[in-house]
Amino acid sequence: MTDTLPIARSVRELRTYVARWRNQNLTVGFAPTMGALHDGHLDLIRALKGRCDRTIASIFVNPKQFAAHEDLDRYPRDEAGDAAKLASAGCDLLYAPPREVMYPDGHSTSVSVAGVSEPLEGEARPHFFGGVATVVTKLLLQCLPDVAAFGEKDYQQLLVVKRMVRDLDMPVEIMGVPTTREADGLAMSSRNAYLSPEERIVAARLNVILREAVEQLESGANIMTTLVKIERQIFKAGFSEIDYVAIRGEDDFLPIASPIVRRPARLLVAVRAGETRLIDNMAVGAMRP
Ligand code: PAJ
Repeated sequence: MTDTLPIARSVRELRTYVARWRNQNLTVGFAPTMGALHDGHLDLIRALKGRCDRTIASIFVNPKQFAAHEDLDRYPRDEAGDAAKLASAGCDLLYAPPREVMYPDGHSTSVSVAGVSEPLEGEARPHFFGGVATVVTKLLLQCLPDVAAFGEKDYQQLLVVKRMVRDLDMPVEIMGVPTTREADGLAMSSRNAYLSPEERIVAARLNVILREAVEQLESGANIMTTLVKIERQIFKAGFSEIDYVAIRGEDDFLPIASPIVRRPARLLVAVRAGETRLIDNMAVGAMRP
């Protein structure tokens, strides 16, 4: 293990590494990120290392997935720190293209995924999945890995990417990786750095509320009643705003029509602690008979 890591800044450099590995019959795993890396990101690398001979992480804070009022300019950036973390997790290459490599002058193509990208995050952040789908398409085509890892933390994003890769026949396997949490249950996120000490205490309560709700749903609690109860508990815990609290089918992401959960589902929330937007989700098994 080394503590420095090679960095590719252009598509050509990236492809030179990948071609060399392919010539040696080595398989390649890829984890796209926006940097400010934490253990959740590193778990993507660790999961890929279990499947592939070589692993690549990318860092690119993608302007196309931020709206004008969002945090593009203050999004945390620490490339040197990130590179050291990736090296210690055993990553083989960092791809960190500048903006003009990703979006050269005149760039005018975008990718949109209908259906699964429309509800929840799609409603709260209408520009978001278009930006994600476009940059992930570019990153996957630039790198052409065997496997690309995405976190279940961004569950809807994982489904959007899976659908896009299937629909566009991209020759890449998409691997979902379970959410990595802090000791108190808060889902790790680069945006947790924005939380004040008081907001950080509030943020941790989300996990407790969701875990209790999952238990109740799996014991046959009514979905509508449970969602209303979760909303009440979220405000009581001190969160300032709720974007959504929802239950959707695990794979098709459709609303669950039955009054109780009868097929594998996901409970998903987006809330604000102070000004900081947090999302989280948990698997809900079908009610035990
Ligand atoms: P970013 O928020 O940096 O996340 C990069 C990857 O890490 C995503 O697949 C995300 O789901 C995963 N991840 C983040 N927190 C995690 C956690 N606590 N546990 C497990 N995985 C976690 O998501 C993006 O960047 C961007 O939208 C991107 C896909 C890079 C496109 O720009």
